[in-house]
Amino acid sequence: MFAERTNWNLTGNRLSEALARHRAGGKQLLDLIASNPTECGFAYDNETILAALQNPAALRYEPNPKGLESARLAVTEYYSARGVAISADDIVLTTSTSEAYSFVFRLLCNPGDELLIPAPSYPLFGFLADIQDVKLVRYPLVYDHGWQIDFHSLQQAITPRARGVIVVNPNNPTGHFVKEKELAKLNELCAARGMALIADEVFLDFALSGAQRVTFAGNPSALTFVMSGLSKIAGLPHMKMAWVISSGPGELKRPAMERLEVIADTYLSPNAPVQLATPAFLEQRHGFQKQVMTRVRKNLTELDRQLAAQSACVRLELEGGWYAVLRVPVAQTDEELAIAFLETKDTYVHPGHFFDFAGDGYLIASLIAREQEFAEGLRRILSYF
Ligand SMILES: Cc1ncc(COP(=O)(O)O)c(C=O)c1O
Repeated sequence: MFAERTNWNLTGNRLSEALARHRAGGKQLLDLIASNPTECGFAYDNETILAALQNPAALRYEPNPKGLESARLAVTEYYSARGVAISADDIVLTTSTSEAYSFVFRLLCNPGDELLIPAPSYPLFGFLADIQDVKLVRYPLVYDHGWQIDFHSLQQAITPRARGVIVVNPNNPTGHFVKEKELAKLNELCAARGMALIADEVFLDFALSGAQRVTFAGNPSALTFVMSGLSKIAGLPHMKMAWVISSGPGELKRPAMERLEVIADTYLSPNAPVQLATPAFLEQRHGFQKQVMTRVRKNLTELDRQLAAQSACVRLELEGGWYAVLRVPVAQTDEELAIAFLETKDTYVHPGHFFDFAGDGYLIASLIAREQEFAEGLRRILSYF
């Protein structure tokens, strides 16, 4: 009855089963993977958010394949605040970054074509690729006092079917940003091999230091698609508003935009009230981001304080984002360890293999978890070793 592409193994893994058992037991759980910003105790400007959804203009249907101009202009203002000039004509609005990925995968790839993805990275790529009949090929990131792209391995991974290189900037969960030199090499590689650059910048604003970070938005040297959205930037994943920006040499960008527009026109996904509210939603990102960065810094300080008092575990360096990677002793698989924490410490962390870490010995904790919960969960985890 069903397409091969949906032939997933949908039986739960041992960790999800352990979590279900724990929940069914009704015991308290210290959630160190919290990543839903609406449940982490941040104060939102509720009145402004709700008022923005009541724009009478939403009573009129004004279909536009790229999305309403007022919303796209608000996105250009977001970039101009970073000193990057983007034209509203180069933006297509989508309901999520995931949908933006789907559009770009559809634009670039025939069935069986390949896209290069970083490892470790964000676990959703597998499903997105399956649904679009795309094959993912991993290229390793290497850690040596900070993360970097292993360009030798990246080059080795390129086959004639490779259509693009995906970068997550900063990456989830390693929290490292792409550097100028890496951007230059990526541009050179993609331009020479006829590949596109696909940059996920949903965490771009969450840098720990004030240093100016590289953004791929407006990158002129290779065909580039930059995705971001309100999910992380404004802490509004439920509002379902994201975008993809095209740039690059005109002879590639023009047809890319024409085709992307047809894909977007086929769905016309974003709804009117949210598009009309997007300028107000983006405006309230400042207050949200301030709270997030305060939380991230406090949790990181607590993490370092507790790590300094023991010698079994360390954390990897990070430059931004919402997550910390812990290096822990390997006496069992990361999954077994995460299950042991659930069962004996009532604490939930993610095993590294969720994020494609090459070996065992890595745990991922969310730095936006509530401070008390984070400190107590961490204390329990460290007491295990
Ligand atoms: C790196 C990265 N990209 C994209 C997303 C999803 O964003 P959206 O809600 O816009 O689909 C996430 C969500 O966790 C993410 O971590």
